[in-house]
Amino acid sequence: MDRLQHVLDEIAEEAAAQDDRGLVAQYIPELAKVDPKQFGIAVALPDGRVLTAGNAATAFSIQSVSKVFTLSLALGKLGDSLWTRVGREPSGNPFNSIVQLEQEKGRPRNPFINAGAIAVADLILSGHEPREAIGEIVRFIRYLADDDAVRIDERVAASETAHGDRNASLAHFMRSFGTVTHPVDHVLGVYFHQCAIAMNCRQLARAGLFLACQGRNPLTSSQVVTAHRARRINAIMLMCGHYDGSGEFAYRVGLPGKSGVGGGILAIAPGTASIAVWSPGLDPVGNSKLGSTALEQLTKRMQWSVFGS
Ligand code: DON
Repeated sequence: MDRLQHVLDEIAEEAAAQDDRGLVAQYIPELAKVDPKQFGIAVALPDGRVLTAGNAATAFSIQSVSKVFTLSLALGKLGDSLWTRVGREPSGNPFNSIVQLEQEKGRPRNPFINAGAIAVADLILSGHEPREAIGEIVRFIRYLADDDAVRIDERVAASETAHGDRNASLAHFMRSFGTVTHPVDHVLGVYFHQCAIAMNCRQLARAGLFLACQGRNPLTSSQVVTAHRARRINAIMLMCGHYDGSGEFAYRVGLPGKSGVGGGILAIAPGTASIAVWSPGLDPVGNSKLGSTALEQLTKRMQWSVFGS
């Protein structure tokens, strides 16, 4: 264990020394204000320990990392019928692209691109008012993180709502095909609020632990999703979790992972650990630049890649 802490400290030191940190997301004004010099990492282990380095206690906007949790929640509610609405193939396109939607008749390629996550938000909304659906998502994440301090950053939600024309286009387009069934402003209300959830690396690593433990929360012994569902969520994270950077992430890191434009990444070493890393500067595809490098170094030094050493 000392070795893991030593590796995390080394990685945080190396990150602190980096000048080229990428660019913070500009299209959501509230995210553009975040200081790019920050870096945090946390590793949650099945025995309950969470090891950290850097700014692991600083909350950040989880953005698209939330899509892992909404997918898990929606699969629990609907089961495999979810896949009639959303595919599970890599898109090879930017996360907010609209082109494939027309070619593929309004069925998003996967639940992690924006269109797919908006379709999943529509499913979670069934039988609820928007506020109730948002509450259900937050409660689920608080339960997974074992921390009631997880909250929504309302300023980020408002900022994205005010600049959400691209997502509104995706939602309207899907509604014309029946992939989205609720009023667009309700669905986007759910989607923007899930993206605006603020968590720190410690909480996020803890919340992802069920995916490293065959769907079980090892600390409460409750089954969050079935083991085969956890395996499949990990598979989708590996193939689709970094959009058109997914191949590069699999090549360099070799773990299922999900990024967000807030600069967070959740990565899963099945059977071993759940890892959260955060650095706000992004690469040109929209994935955390130093976060990806940190995970590459971690898997290399700990030999945690699912593909071997
Ligand atoms: O909908 C959006 O554009 C953002 N709320 C989330 C995008 C995102 O995090 C993409 N991830 N790298």
